[in-house]
Order: sequence, then structure tokens, then C-alpha cells
Amino acid sequence: MRVLIIGTGYVGLNTGVMLAYLGNEVTCIDVNAEKIKLLQAGIAPFYEPHLEEMFALAKDKISFTDNYEAAQIGEKDVIFIAVGTPSLPDGSANLEYVRQAAESIAEKLSDKFTVVVNKSTVPIGSGNWVGAIIKTHYEKTHGKKANGLFAVVSNPEFLKQGAALHDSLYPDRVVIGSENEHGLDVLRELFGPVLRQDFEAPACLPRPEGLKEVPLLACDLTSAEVIKYAANAFLALKISYINEIARLTAKVGADAQMVAKGIGLDNRIGPRFLNPGIGWGGSCFGKDTAALVATAREYQLEMPIVQAARDVNYGQRSWVVDALQEQLKILKGRRVALLGFSFKPETDDLRDAPSLDIARLLIQRGAIVRAHDPIALDNARRQYPDMGVTYCQEVEDALDEAEAIVLVTEWPYYRTLNWSKIPPVVLVDGRNYLDDKALRALGFTVIGVGR
Ligand code: UDX
Repeated sequence: MRVLIIGTGYVGLNTGVMLAYLGNEVTCIDVNAEKIKLLQAGIAPFYEPHLEEMFALAKDKISFTDNYEAAQIGEKDVIFIAVGTPSLPDGSANLEYVRQAAESIAEKLSDKFTVVVNKSTVPIGSGNWVGAIIKTHYEKTHGKKANGLFAVVSNPEFLKQGAALHDSLYPDRVVIGSENEHGLDVLRELFGPVLRQDFEAPACLPRPEGLKEVPLLACDLTSAEVIKYAANAFLALKISYINEIARLTAKVGADAQMVAKGIGLDNRIGPRFLNPGIGWGGSCFGKDTAALVATAREYQLEMPIVQAARDVNYGQRSWVVDALQEQLKILKGRRVALLGFSFKPETDDLRDAPSLDIARLLIQRGAIVRAHDPIALDNARRQYPDMGVTYCQEVEDALDEAEAIVLVTEWPYYRTLNWSKIPPVVLVDGRNYLDDKALRALGFTVIGVGR
């Protein structure tokens, strides 16, 4: 099929590369000309495992442009809107880029039936809104009715950064939502190889053992939109739940990880997303839970469970600083090393990263913060040049004369450090990731989460 992807962020680019790999003719468009230049040279604008390898495999099927004329909208079978929807101060999503994309589509639609897919995480009800913009704008610019020319389908994205291409090729499920059967059929066909799992798996991303097919859920537009928010909010509250339990286990002398294991063995609960730690970050959980609460308020509804998940999550960040203060008594003038700055391993993304709040709080209380990360420091220097953190290229620099260490992100690299060569100090293991017994034997005062 001929596919256009509007927006080359994580969602757009991964979707584009995946669909090109599966043999579709994919064009990706982005208003950021610099990004397009990089992509045209085969360079990924952000770090994501296997993206450049997959790029190389799909290069004959994928092209990039920053120009709507060159994008040939009128010839496309499917157009994905995968632009950013940043949070506004009240937690609601800024839909300006979605509106611009919808208007650009409307201007260039031909007489051929086109499926417009909402892939961006948009507020509940936005599918109808996108449809209305395209219709109105088409009729204004073409001077005729748009009836039957296009269908809007919601196709929420569930990919995890750091495993984005794996999740695109081997998802747990594909959800498509529309009132238009023809539109749904086009997407059934487009995702056919993923649903049937009959494509040749790339060597760099082998098919998970036993995966024979992927379930498809076809539903109405609004339900598909709610599924995205409800899924992310559920995962977020699962993490906050174990973190709340961890606060209790720390008081009563139990081990939160054992508790997580014990409850996770119940099939109804499941073991995943139950790792106690300093909580979630990233582009989705914080933004989507805030948007869900904001949407509910528009309908005079409170969402106390989702709100509580947020409160517990952001409380974890100050807990780290309080725990350090309790140990060191005085934070003023203390050198604290932060290990890991990205919101999770295998990404250089700093959106809503716990490291940022932890660093800010420590600096507010007078500490000297030195941070290391295997790949996110360039982003940190570019995006947060003035926050008062010393970014250290070498981990030894960050640890030099440190009076306390906080493991913020569980990069495997930190397990490989020769800890016996590091002077033992107070160490907050924010992910319960390091070998606490071995570290204690070396003289470290280890503070884990909930143990
Ligand atoms: C998430 C969803 O998983 C994905 O389906 C959605 O489309 C986008 O948001 P992502 O943000 O990439 O993906 O990362 P994910 O692996 O889900 O982790 C989110 C955060 O939760 C990270 O900060 C991670 O460290 C934290 N986390 C995860 C925990 O603190 N404990 C856990 O048990 C799992």
C-alpha cells in the first residue's frame, strides 16, 4: 500500500520503518527540515535499538520529505497522523499539530478513498474532531462535498521506547476503531502480515518463540481512543500500587520485591510492571494520566484512582531526596552522583525523567549534583544546560569524591562497574537493581525501594 506518515517522532518513525519493512511504499513527512536531512542520510534522530539496522533493510521502500507537495497525499491509501501532542499547563493535550496535519490532508485529498489514521495519542473525541476538520477544510478548499472520500480510524500505539520496533512487529494486540467498515478493512489488510505473523523476521529482531498470530480488536472510534488511555493509566497505576506497597514494606520490614513476586504469580495480576522503584517517567504515563483526569473533569467526573497513581509516582522522587537527607543529615555542600539520567534504559529520552526532579530537589537543598548516563548526556546538555547539574562523560568523574550515589536508571552498565574500587558511601538504589548484599559487604549503606 502507499502510506504517508505525518510526524517522525518515536511513533511515526517506528511505524514508518515497520510498514516499509513489510513491503509498503512509505513516505514520512515532518516540518522539521533538519530532522528530515538526517533521515534522508539514513541517520536516526534519536537513539532506539535496531532503528538504523531496520532503516537500512527498508531503505528502498521509505522516503522522507518536509514538503507537502512532494508527499503526494492524493495518491496515498493510508495517512497516519503521528505528530506530537504536548501537554498544556492544565494537563490537556495541545492539538495544534494535529489540526495542521488534518488541514494539510484536506487540501491535498484527491477523489481516491483515503484512510486517515489517528496514531498520535489524542484526547477522547479527537477522531470526530479530525474528521470534521478534514471535511470542512476539504469543502472550503475544493468547493465540493467530501462525502465518502475518507475515513478516520483510531489506531492507538502501545510501543515501548527501547523496544519500539520489537513492539511494532510483534505487538500484544492491534486495536483499530472506526464507524467506517471500509476504513477498518483497509487497515486489516495493511496490518495483515503483523496479524498473521507471516513476514520474514529481520535477523536483528527475531520473532518471539511461539508467536503465531496477533489478535486484532476492531471497535468504534471512541472506544479505541479510550483503550489507549485506559491501558497506559492501568500500567501507571500498577507501578504506583507496588510503590505504595513498597512504602509499607519498608516500614514493616518486608521486601517489596518478594511481595511483587508473590502477587505477580497470580495469573489475574501478572508479574510485569510491578518493579518497585522511583516510579515512571517518559512521554506517555505522565501525560496520558494527566489528560485522562482533565478529560474526565470536562464531564464533571473525578478519577481518584488515576490521580492517586500520579501523586504516588511523583512522591517517589522527593522520597529519594528525603531518604538521602535522613542518612546524610545535611545536604548542603554534599556531592551526590546520579547514575542514569534518561527516564529508562535503552533510550536517550529525558521527557518527565525522574532524574530531573531528583536533581532539582537536591540542588534546591544545596547539594552538588554530578550526573552520568551512557547515552542521554548530549540531550541533557542541550535541553537542560542551566539546571546546575555537572554532566560527566565518564562515570568515574561523576563518582569522584561523591558522598552519596543515587542509581536513577537501571542501565546494565552500572552493574558492570568495579564497585570494590568505589569508596563506599550512602547509595540509594532507586531501581533495586544492584547487588545490595555485595555492596553492603563492601561497606556501602544501601537504601533500596521497599526493602
Ligand atoms: C509506555 C507504555 O508501556 C507503552 O505501551 C505506551 O505506548 C507508551 O508508554 P514507555 O514510556 O516507552 O512506554 O516505557 P515503559 O517501559 O512502559 O516504562 C515507563 C516507565 O515506567 C519507565 O520510567 C519505567 O522505568 C517505569 N517502570 C516500568 C517502573 O517504574 N516499574 C515497572 O515495573 C515498569
